[in-house]
Amino acid sequence: MAIKDLTLVKKHLFLCNGGSCKMLGAEESTAAIRFAIAEYGLSDEIHTTKTLCNGRCKDGPIVIAQPDGIWFKMMGKEKADAFVKEFLVDEQLPKDIVLYKYGADSIHIG
Ligand code: FES
Repeated sequence: MAIKDLTLVKKHLFLCNGGSCKMLGAEESTAAIRFAIAEYGLSDEIHTTKTLCNGRCKDGPIVIAQPDGIWFKMMGKEKADAFVKEFLVDEQLPKDIVLYKYGADSIHIG
């Protein structure tokens, strides 16, 4: 069993793999996101966890980033590499796929 050094972790991505998100390609996008994280050398800094349903099935596949408090929508595998590059490497917000940020007045702020 792997032992994660939590002192190195900067972000935690929750990758919805509930039934509806899976039907929308969550398993493939999860694999693609994890592959890109490794390719960009971020495996120590970015922790990922697959989850069950997060209650936004129609917007899936859903990815939630903490501690940012940002929900991303429609995370197909084709978006995974650009998402990792823009959000995790360049530390920019890919606004087109933001569903919600905690504290916002409305959803779909992207
Ligand atoms: S299955 Fe992902 S939000 Fe419901």
